[in-house]
Amino acid sequence: MNRESKAKVKLRKFRIGDYDTLIELWEKSRLPYKPKGRDRRDKIERELQAGKALFYVAECDGQIVGSIFGTHDGRKGWINRLAVHPEYRGRGIARKLVTRVEEDLNKLGIDIIACLVEGWNHDSINAFKAMGYSEFEDIVYFTKRKYPDV
Ligand SMILES: CC(C)(COP(=O)(O)OP(=O)(O)OC[C@H]1O[C@@H](n2cnc3c(N)ncnc32)[C@H](O)[C@@H]1OP(=O)(O)O)[C@@H](O)C(=O)NCCC(=O)NCCS
Repeated sequence: MNRESKAKVKLRKFRIGDYDTLIELWEKSRLPYKPKGRDRRDKIERELQAGKALFYVAECDGQIVGSIFGTHDGRKGWINRLAVHPEYRGRGIARKLVTRVEEDLNKLGIDIIACLVEGWNHDSINAFKAMGYSEFEDIVYFTKRKYPDV
């Protein structure tokens, strides 16, 4: 990516027709995701139809090079599925995506935004720290799952 194409990065809302391209991006980005669970096409489509999804993609050079899925439960906002194509990293695309979701959430009156990152994912941990997020070391993550791949 050259200087000129950097200026051309555009964010837009994710559409369900982007699904296959999005999965390719996640695979290339080595993003952990749940293709048999909450990231199944029909599950994502249902979230979009519910009207609360703050799902964006970043486009550059005619292709989708970044993604973010912002969500909220009315109380707390979440950043999910932040991914940038390996060849487009280090150019501020993740920051642009995160800022958009933060702005959307703030407009909805949500003042706390969280994300969960695997402990081995140092790139992401460092990126979130650089973007102003604080790490809580003393939190244990509990879930109850209907099936393992959910
Ligand atoms: C994490 C990821 C999204 C960052 O994307 P990016 O477009 O390269 O990030 P940006 O260029 O917008 O950087 C945002 C900030 O994070 C910092 N940062 C990004 N990657 C970093 C890294 N590997 N180490 C340290 N800091 C990093 C940048 O320096 C920047 O801070 P600055 O503006 O103060 O300089 C990208 O590496 C990725 O897709 N990783 C794989 C997918 C993944 O694991 N996603 C997270 C799941 S929770």
